[in-house]
Amino acid sequence: MGLAHIEGYQPVILVTGCSSGIGKALAELLWAMPQYRVVVTARASSLSALESKFSDNARFLIRALDVTDDEQIVDVVGEIYKKWRAVDIVINNAGISYRSVLEHMDEHSELHQLKTNYLGPMSLTRMVLPTMREKGFGRIINISSVSGLVAMPTMGSYSASKAALESASESLWYEMKPFGVKVSIVQPGFVHSESYRNVYYSKKAQLSESLLGPYSLYYRSITPFIEKLMKLSRTTPEEIAEKILGVIESENPPLWVPISLDAFVFNMMRRLMPHWLYYNVMFWLMPRSDEWSQKYPAFTAHEES
Ligand SMILES: NC(=O)c1ccc[n+]([C@@H]2O[C@H](COP(=O)([O-])OP(=O)(O)OC[C@H]3O[C@@H](n4cnc5c(N)ncnc54)[C@H](OP(=O)(O)O)[C@@H]3O)[C@@H](O)[C@H]2O)c1
Repeated sequence: MGLAHIEGYQPVILVTGCSSGIGKALAELLWAMPQYRVVVTARASSLSALESKFSDNARFLIRALDVTDDEQIVDVVGEIYKKWRAVDIVINNAGISYRSVLEHMDEHSELHQLKTNYLGPMSLTRMVLPTMREKGFGRIINISSVSGLVAMPTMGSYSASKAALESASESLWYEMKPFGVKVSIVQPGFVHSESYRNVYYSKKAQLSESLLGPYSLYYRSITPFIEKLMKLSRTTPEEIAEKILGVIESENPPLWVPISLDAFVFNMMRRLMPHWLYYNVMFWLMPRSDEWSQKYPAFTAHEES
């Protein structure tokens, strides 16, 4: 039975990363649904985006939560347990994306990427599992990306973090099935939103984009390409929020939830096409990829480091 259908019980939903995009759209939906108790969270620095729209009431709380900070996770989950004795549904939505070729990533950037998209969601999940297991129900909904399956140049670290999230979610699906806790991986493709503005660059990536380094053409072609695809996409954060609500309300949510047509098509291409064909088609589809190998005589390794 779906949690929402248990007579008189208001399931407790915790959502991360609600200051913008998909998280904000989901917060808006849940604000108007009295059948749920809801905790929407954002980093302290962007909490005002929530406070200007919503306010705490008997069933709706706004809390600061940086998913890379284990102490904050313990505090927020501890407070909810004290107040409502449960967290029934967790939506690990907070996420960031680095735009950097792998050679330009550094340990700090790699850790920032992984902590936000993988390690943080895992910490939060670990905090809520024991109670879910004991109650015999619960939902973990992890917002991944088609990038978890389809890697692109300059997005390797982002893809790796989402692939880690997906693999761990897959294991968790098996581990939790006997306990009645359901795990889903939501995989949006390109979303019509402003989130491309929130992309992070490693120090070397920033330099390389401004200097004429051997990778500068990657940055100069991939960045506008992604922005264009996002602007062209017909999938909005609101639609994704509706689909996530469908997962919350479904009695038997699937493990894999590809959200948009492009996510579905990329998924099929990646799984069904022979590898040699798939990689060549993808390379060909990428903007100005025929020019990526051109030489930069003015560039020296010294200039970029
Ligand atoms: N947009 C797309 O095309 C797309 C496609 C596939 C998958 N996704 C995934 O969908 C999810 C939501 O993305 P979006 O499109 O809604 O992007 P977005 O508008 O950039 O939202 C990301 C949210 O994550 C928050 N966040 C970042 N670092 C955080 C941290 N350490 N702790 C807590 N919150 C943090 C941001 O808050 P701040 O304001 O504090 O930075 C923001 O609220 C992400 O997991 C993303 O990877 C997006």
